[in-house]
Amino acid sequence: MDIRTENPEDIEAVRNINIAAFGRENEANLVDQLRGIASTFSFVAVQCDRIVGHLFFSPVVAGKCSSNLSILGLAPVAVLPNYQRQGIGTLLIQQGLKECGGSGFQAVVVLGHPDFY
Ligand SMILES: CC(C)(COP(=O)(O)OP(=O)(O)OC[C@H]1O[C@@H](n2cnc3c(N)ncnc32)[C@H](O)[C@@H]1OP(=O)(O)O)[C@@H](O)C(=O)NCCC(=O)NCCS
Repeated sequence: MDIRTENPEDIEAVRNINIAAFGRENEANLVDQLRGIASTFSFVAVQCDRIVGHLFFSPVVAGKCSSNLSILGLAPVAVLPNYQRQGIGTLLIQQGLKECGGSGFQAVVVLGHPDFY
């Protein structure tokens, strides 16, 4: 399993992963709209030359506490249904956080299922 930064040629596969994982287009559309804005980070999980997972970070404002903080939002994270529960989501998040560590952002926030995050 290789975790790497998304390339332009990955964009269609990333869109399909988000649609397959969430069963709707909302998250895929959000990623497509945010991509290209400065300071977004997009990672893919690749297994045997196939992109099977995706993780996205973008800058967020988190209430009053954010005035002096640069904060990234972690969302969405998606793994193709047939590849779930094999540790790919965990690996994407661990590796993604490590990669964002040197970006100058001071915190990452996430909204989601507490058992997973
Ligand atoms: C959530 C998601 C990214 C997890 O990816 P994954 O590769 O299956 O996760 P992992 O294999 O690393 O799971 C690690 C642990 O997280 C927990 N977990 C995984 N998916 C979960 C879910 N959907 N709900 C609650 N807990 C979950 C489990 O405890 C799991 O450990 P276990 O398999 O030993 O029980 C994947 O299930 C997915 O794409 N779901 C649909 C999209 C989604 O809901 N994304 C998150 C919201 S942004």
